[in-house]
Amino acid sequence: MSEPEIHPVPPGFAARAHVDAAAYAATYRRSVEDTEGFWCEQAAFLDWITPFTQVKDTSFALEDLRIRWFADGTLNASHNCIDRHLPAKADVPAILWEGDDPAERRTVTWGELADKVNRLANVLTGLGVRQGDVVTIYLPVIPEAVVAMMACVRIGAVHSVVFSGFSAEALADRIADARAKVLITADEGRRGGRAVPLKRNADRALERERAVAHVVVVRRSGADVPFTPGRDLWYDEAVAAAAPHCPPVAVGAEDPLFILYTSGSTGKPKGLVHTTGGYLVHTGTSWRTIFDWHEGDVFWCTADVGWVTAHTYKIYGPLLNGATSVLFEGVPTWPDSSRWWSIIERYRVNIFYTAPTAIRSLMREGEEPVRRHDLSSLRVLGSVGEPINPEAWRWYHRVVGGGRCPIVDTYWQTETGAVLLTPIPGAVPNKPGRAGKPYFGIRPVVVDAANAELAGPAEGNLCFADSWPAQARTILHDHGRFLRTYFAPFPGRFFTGDGASRDADGYYRISGRVDDVINVSGHRLGTVELESAIASHPAVAEAAVVGYPHPVKGQGVFAYVTLKGGIAESEGLRGEIVTRVRDRIGPIATPDVVQWAPALPKNRAGKILRRILSKAAAGDFADFGDTSTVADPDVVADIVARRRAARVDGAAGVP
Ligand code: PRX
Repeated sequence: MSEPEIHPVPPGFAARAHVDAAAYAATYRRSVEDTEGFWCEQAAFLDWITPFTQVKDTSFALEDLRIRWFADGTLNASHNCIDRHLPAKADVPAILWEGDDPAERRTVTWGELADKVNRLANVLTGLGVRQGDVVTIYLPVIPEAVVAMMACVRIGAVHSVVFSGFSAEALADRIADARAKVLITADEGRRGGRAVPLKRNADRALERERAVAHVVVVRRSGADVPFTPGRDLWYDEAVAAAAPHCPPVAVGAEDPLFILYTSGSTGKPKGLVHTTGGYLVHTGTSWRTIFDWHEGDVFWCTADVGWVTAHTYKIYGPLLNGATSVLFEGVPTWPDSSRWWSIIERYRVNIFYTAPTAIRSLMREGEEPVRRHDLSSLRVLGSVGEPINPEAWRWYHRVVGGGRCPIVDTYWQTETGAVLLTPIPGAVPNKPGRAGKPYFGIRPVVVDAANAELAGPAEGNLCFADSWPAQARTILHDHGRFLRTYFAPFPGRFFTGDGASRDADGYYRISGRVDDVINVSGHRLGTVELESAIASHPAVAEAAVVGYPHPVKGQGVFAYVTLKGGIAESEGLRGEIVTRVRDRIGPIATPDVVQWAPALPKNRAGKILRRILSKAAAGDFADFGDTSTVADPDVVADIVARRRAARVDGAAGVP
């Protein structure tokens, strides 16, 4: 890849920024030389109930893994996110909400947010939810999602938000794994003019998971949905009847704050556990720094509440700082493809944070929908979730940002809780496609396959040498998997699962996952999870799923499917397989291509040779490398012949 151009910090920006180039260099050096001292100072950002006496107690050694931050301190997340802003901001908007239908708008002030959170916290207590219990939240992007999260943490309960695009089966899996007691959902969601049947999905999930004693249902659309007396209660009625004050409980810094599921390289989703003190310190302070937020700025992150991006930098980050943010329920292309730009204009958004896949899809609509709106309020743009290709970066910078806004390309993960690499605006000039430099206190290392650290410009596996406060502490009910996945591959280090290169200026470029995870439109999907969903169809003998380059999604889902003997290939069956995946996981996992494979290429030990399947899927037939290990070479020839005959959007070498 050629070296990208450098975009200096825009004139005038650095003068007002929280961090300039000199401050970045000095603070970064200090933060890695005295990591404890640095984070100790950062922790003053929060209100603590019991002050901590120890900052950091961490070790990445496999036999002695410890990730503990501020361990003997106590605090309450909802107090820090809401109560402490009330004296100055009770009447100031905390949330500017717009529904899928542009005519639906609501402003929620800090005072109103506090009132709803207190009341819902009392409702939950009344339903028997106690400190440490898990509440699953399956809601669209509506203010009640924020209220629900805050109500949980006010009483020390642990929220587990499940993306509202996940199917009933995926929801049931996550409820079961978390052993949730209460579910909070809505009658329906709305996306792109269509209804999302949340209550129906919830009811189906609960046919299987009967341990959930109560379901709190938000009336979002007013649709007539089934209601189970004794189990279900309406949110609005329960909140109206509840007592208006609920004192925030003292929670240990190392007590869990939330669980969030993500895909890994085995079939079962991982419930990453985040704890309270460290997560809030890192989230609150980094949000302010990386988006260069100043009092009065309006922030908008487009992520759905079901993902870590929304947890950290749409909900907790702005709330901890008392910032006003936009919440939008819908999609960028409905009613038309200027929807996002109209929202930026309407709410005078100053800081806008989204994903490369959305930028690529809006780029296809041309500049006209953007030009129709006044985006002069924008000052900082952000990108997250997948590598941003330089072409999309330049369009975002020039057309959306008018050439004057720095782009913070933030690299992090569900596991990392908060940002690890990013070009802090005002301090680090941008290079399109590069995720910048380490955040304060963060020590990235690039290692080769033998775990040797590579110095200077290098390419290899991206690891981190030391802990940071927002790091996930474990996988719920499976600490062994936590150790095996993140700490065993490169002993002494945290392994991200990503490949990366570092250039001569110390900028990092993420090349993508090096494990069995694919990144589709910024969503992580485990190939094994997809394969199990496909193989659960009775006609399927075996399936192998790989990612392939997709012009909008970054990666698309390419499924090779072997049918059971005697079953004929048909378009009908192809449709059933696609539906099976949507039912098992959700629409985000829809296979882009299903190619029939009478057999899959395997080595003599029976292991599927994914490298060959990935290359064929990408239309890269030139060099399959060493194929001498393939047990049956005719299988490869057949795969290639069928792939050549297929039309695949965007892949190289399409016939
Ligand atoms: O592959 C990296 C990619 O997204 C993965 C993490 O996904 P998830 O846990 O869903 O969190 C996404 C939002 C924080 C990473 O392992 N990724 C995330 N941010 C970037 C990225 N790849 C390149 N550049 C980024 N800025």
